[in-house]
Amino acid sequence: MLLLYLCFWIAAIALAGDAAGRGIAPPNECPPFRNGSIVIESYQLYPENADFDLNECLLYFGSLFNASVVVYDPYKAETVLTLEFGGITRTRPFHVGGVAWDPYTNLISILVDSATPHETPDHQIAGDDYLIRYDPAKREIVWSLNITEVTRGEYGGQQDVEHDARGHVYVLGSYPGTILRVEPDGKSIKPWYLPPEIDHTVYGLTGFAAAGDILLASDIKNNSASGGSIYRFDLAAEEGVPVVVPRTPEDPILSFDAIYLPPKYGGTVLLISEHERGVSVLRSADGRWEAAEYLGLIPNDLSLVDDGGANTATVEIAGSIYTVNEWFSDPIVPGTSAGSRTKFPLVDISARVEELLVAAK
Ligand SMILES: *[C@@H]1O[C@H](CO)[C@@H](O)[C@H](O)[C@H]1NC(C)=O
Ligand SMILES: *[C@@H]1O[C@H](CO)[C@@H](O)[C@H](O)[C@H]1NC(C)=O
Ligand SMILES: *[C@@H]1O[C@H](CO)[C@@H](O)[C@H](O)[C@H]1NC(C)=O
Ligand SMILES: *[C@@H]1O[C@H](CO)[C@@H](O)[C@H](O)[C@H]1NC(C)=O
Repeated sequence: MLLLYLCFWIAAIALAGDAAGRGIAPPNECPPFRNGSIVIESYQLYPENADFDLNECLLYFGSLFNASVVVYDPYKAETVLTLEFGGITRTRPFHVGGVAWDPYTNLISILVDSATPHETPDHQIAGDDYLIRYDPAKREIVWSLNITEVTRGEYGGQQDVEHDARGHVYVLGSYPGTILRVEPDGKSIKPWYLPPEIDHTVYGLTGFAAAGDILLASDIKNNSASGGSIYRFDLAAEEGVPVVVPRTPEDPILSFDAIYLPPKYGGTVLLISEHERGVSVLRSADGRWEAAEYLGLIPNDLSLVDDGGANTATVEIAGSIYTVNEWFSDPIVPGTSAGSRTKFPLVDISARVEELLVAAK
């Protein structure tokens, strides 16, 4: 376990060097991982989101209720490190939702969010959200930033992070659906996309995924019965402008959480996690996402559904694609911040994705 302090709480923490000067990450040299479905043994992990660091070949899990980050070696099937944050980890007001490896700097972006907007029916905006840039090589926080200073309690539910080649970090909030952009030095953050009306009772954007300068984002449209939309944004633009990605056929996508572009398909295949339903698969053969083919739904494993599991994200580990599953309603163990679960399955859906791609040719 590594205990880290955010710099505005402990002013003396050393700042690591300029991340933007590191250049582009080396190509993926992680050995292929072909172990099929696996089970992560970790008390109270409750992962909401995960990402695979193709530089270190390690998996990062955002542990939702503990508000920690678990660094896991899938090849050895063991936890390498748990990152805990002073004043955040194991406090009920905080969650760790989004966690993402930045392929341009090899840093990890970690989103600490207030639990309140997610747990109140009208998505009350209360509590603070923080973005942490963590350097896995030095095992240090590079910078951290208080997101509430820009959102001023008007909008919130921060739950996903993305990056561009110019060193920016993007933060997605769900209520009512906002994108903030952080400068590479972590010294400033400002809105990059805000909807026309700021109404925090509306559930809007749920997740995003980037390939080069194309950013895709999902909009759940306040749980509309007719389904939600996928938008395309241009990361090279000074302000985010959403453009709807039309789908053929127009099968409705009914629930959204994280969305993901598995690296093995070079930005042409989008996986959409739909909690109880499974994973919807979209394709843009030219990777431009001006339009998408809806290839089908990979239903959740029945044993997970029966056990109350929900698919919150997908992640590729060196060639194999997995669903990340969460249990939202396990009773909290008294005196802790999470339920009592110790085993968290990652279900291998690689072959199912391939089948849909082959059938659509
Ligand atoms: C969560 O916190 C508990 C203590 O309540 C600890 O035993 C466990 O290892 C932690 N798990 C994670 C994934 O942080
Ligand atoms: C992966 O599969 C290989 C071959 O069956 C096995 O030796 C290894 O222990 C497995 N690793 C994990 C992490 O399950
Ligand atoms: C973060 O910013 C908010 C809004 O300015 C403020 O109320 C809160 O105290 C700040 N948190 C810390 C740890 O400084
Ligand atoms: C969004 O959904 C919530 C909860 O169902 C509802 O209370 C709210 O009025 C809706 N807002 C709009 C603008 O439709």
